[in-house]
Amino acid sequence: MLAKVLSAALVGLDAHLVEVEVDIGGGLPQFSVVGLPDATVRESRDRVRAALKNTGFSFPVKKITVNLAPADLKKEGSGLDLAIAVGILVAQEVLPAEAVAGRVLVGELSLDGGVKPIAGALSIGMACRHKRALILPAENAEEAAVVEGVSAYPVHTLPETVEFLNGARAISPATVDRRALFATQTAEEDDFADVRGQEHAKRALEVAAAGGHNILMIGPPGSGKTMLARRLPGILPPMEPEEAIEATRVHSVAGLLTDGRPLITARPFRAPHHSISDAGLIGGGTVPRPGEVSLAHHGVLFLDEIMEFKRHVLDGLRQPLEDGTVMLTRVSAAVSRARDAGGGHESLPLRVLRRPDSRVPLHAPPDSAVPVPFVRSAAGSPGHPYRGASRTGQGIGRGGRTGDVGLDPSAGESSPSAPGGPLSAPRVLQQCSVEVPAGQEVLRDRWGGAGSH
Ligand SMILES: Nc1ncnc2c1ncn2[C@@H]1O[C@H](COP(=O)(O)OP(=O)(O)OP(=O)(O)O)[C@@H](O)[C@H]1O
Ligand SMILES: [Mg+2]
Repeated sequence: MLAKVLSAALVGLDAHLVEVEVDIGGGLPQFSVVGLPDATVRESRDRVRAALKNTGFSFPVKKITVNLAPADLKKEGSGLDLAIAVGILVAQEVLPAEAVAGRVLVGELSLDGGVKPIAGALSIGMACRHKRALILPAENAEEAAVVEGVSAYPVHTLPETVEFLNGARAISPATVDRRALFATQTAEEDDFADVRGQEHAKRALEVAAAGGHNILMIGPPGSGKTMLARRLPGILPPMEPEEAIEATRVHSVAGLLTDGRPLITARPFRAPHHSISDAGLIGGGTVPRPGEVSLAHHGVLFLDEIMEFKRHVLDGLRQPLEDGTVMLTRVSAAVSRARDAGGGHESLPLRVLRRPDSRVPLHAPPDSAVPVPFVRSAAGSPGHPYRGASRTGQGIGRGGRTGDVGLDPSAGESSPSAPGGPLSAPRVLQQCSVEVPAGQEVLRDRWGGAGSH
């Protein structure tokens, strides 16, 4: 008999519904999966066989063919396991065909029949909105329920799923109080108020936060650049609900949502190490995965020690910064538009990085250069709160400067440890191969340290 069960597969950030067709026929015993499955999907045969046997269902010793339609969409991941197992049960007439009508099943099976969490539940929820009921692992249920108009039924095991489909067990759909999620925002650990002095740099960060600008900070070691940057999320405007959904989608697809927090309500702050690869920063992989730049969507991408980043990695940021979208092209990714595009190539949008009206800054190549001079405590004021800070202490020692707490007009121009002379905005921009778009001049600071581009 032939059975059809709906499931979903991720392409970029979007979920596509996949029809799992299971045919059980005569012939030599065989279990094949066709329809562009990747290795993980092909391995589902072994998981499904073991899960069915270990939960008391019979596994037919016949020729089983599973087709994943549309056949030209590459399917990856283990989320199709549950639908394949249920499809086999429908094909064996253990379950009636009506039991799965209008329902989408996703979930990875463990060998003992447990249903394990999957990535991208939020995107799958969006694909099922207002149309179909979604049956998914209990761990992902709240994540999908964040989408309005989705009935997300949490299941823990394969037998529980079968009982629910049979009507022998009632499961109520997961609910999420979106308002409560926004209300329980965790306070930022790093408080902007901790920064002493640095009025100039703080003002620049405020302007960047309010206007959604990029910002480059230049200054001697220990002068507080990293400290200032890490405190930027604390002064950003609160996330709008649709911004939270978009950011959560990216994290959900990347499998980075932490337990108990189905919605990202605090602006992301991503600070990748300078050894990061271009695929890590921009996104990549055979089936593209979001990179740091997409994970920082609606938040901050902080590139500490920007001059240490590989040149081609920073180069990769040009197009996303200009277009506001990361486009990755894959030969093997054939979704519907590929046929029109010709040549089998398809560009997969990995989500908007920065909308033109965005109020959220990307902490990446600069719109403005801000010198961050040393802020020093007055000699002989032992009670000063950050007098003992090791890096600051070093800086004072090396520079040999004394004076009142405040801005040092000359400190922004040079770094005692910078080889090859003073660090200036043009030099940093040149070394980082960053081009400032026409009309966006590097601001000349009031000390003249960072010249205009
Ligand atoms: N304005 C300031 N207010 C309070 N603490 C400060 C300030 N500036 C520096 N500090 C202290 O100095 C420490 C070192 O600062 P930070 O690491 O941010 O410097 P940096 O400019 O990033 O240095 P590097 O160029 O070596 O990376 C901070 O953790 C903090 O304790
Ligand atoms: Mg630093």
